[in-house]
Amino acid sequence: MGCMRILGIESSCDETGVAVVEAEKTGVPRLLGASLHSQIAMHQAYGGVVPELASRDHIRRVLPLTDAALAEAGCTLESIDLVAFTRGPGLAGALLVGAGVAVSMAAGLGKSAMGVHHLEGHLLSPFLSADPPEFPFVALLVSGGHTQLMAVTGVGDYALLGETIDDAAGEAFDKSAKVLGLGYPGGPALAALATQGDANAFKLPRPLLHSGDLDFSFAGLKTAVMVQFNKLGDAPTPQQRADLAASTQAAIVEVLVKKSLAAVKAVGANRLVVAGGVGANRSLRQTLNAACATRGVRVHYPELDLCTDNGAMIAMAAALRWQAGLFDLTQPPAYGFEVRPRWPLDAIDD
Ligand code: KG4
Ligand code: ZN
Repeated sequence: MGCMRILGIESSCDETGVAVVEAEKTGVPRLLGASLHSQIAMHQAYGGVVPELASRDHIRRVLPLTDAALAEAGCTLESIDLVAFTRGPGLAGALLVGAGVAVSMAAGLGKSAMGVHHLEGHLLSPFLSADPPEFPFVALLVSGGHTQLMAVTGVGDYALLGETIDDAAGEAFDKSAKVLGLGYPGGPALAALATQGDANAFKLPRPLLHSGDLDFSFAGLKTAVMVQFNKLGDAPTPQQRADLAASTQAAIVEVLVKKSLAAVKAVGANRLVVAGGVGANRSLRQTLNAACATRGVRVHYPELDLCTDNGAMIAMAAALRWQAGLFDLTQPPAYGFEVRPRWPLDAIDD
């Protein structure tokens, strides 16, 4: 097949995303159209994602979003050659919606369906940017549920270098934001408040900074933020809250940057790819860019709007897997499926 079109569906958590990507056998695949619905407003009242509400909302949104993505791409459902969906990790019920719809769609079309690893989607999302990376590279995956450093030698070739032993970086942002009285999701809110604050105002721990390995730990930081916040009494001033937000962000960013540089050095790489929701953080980007520039390391990010969950990264990962020969489109399609709520990226082939 010379040129093929992939429809990608993401539904692992609180975003429904659908996109169309077109790929030739070689060259970087192109995004033709995309649509997204975030459930943030719906979950806000509960302070976090309610899985059952998430599943029901995915059901409501996925078909209209598919129509919208196809319309933007200027193509029909019948012109799709492969339907890709997020197979895991994520919320079981939410994953089942995307998987069920994608596989039924593929069966209706008589085309193939492909289950994609959500973190592989994040990791390969910089290929959708104007400045796509080249292999090999070190990837810093920083999302709401994961904080990992991976050595990436090619599509599907991921070796774990280090990861968090407790909370993820996104979780550290979210939980600290909650302490500060900010809404869900806390990361962007804490980052916004931090721009008004002094990052040196509060002394906060840099967990595992000098541990000599590439692991992370963020659970203690959240506790330290809580202790500092409680010390401020019943009515902290806006400046004190902004200072604590800035100090929290600085602690998270410093650890992420130092460990990423150590990982790049450890494997002798000269490229770093940052992906996942926390990759949208401006302070992380600025600090990493400055640190990498002095060391001759190139850093690649997804476009800002593709850092958090979306369908484009799922379609892109499917396209790159097909190009790499990891998915055989000449085989007759199979329509059995399962989802994998827990699924480590370095066990992608298990
Ligand atoms: O990758 P993602 O959309 O979902 C998961 O797969 O987990 O990441 C969501 C996480 C949340 O913890 C959110 O607070 C964080 O990414 N996040 C940010 C920013 N934007 C999103 N954290 C810090 N600064 C941001 N600008
Ligand atoms: Zn994600």
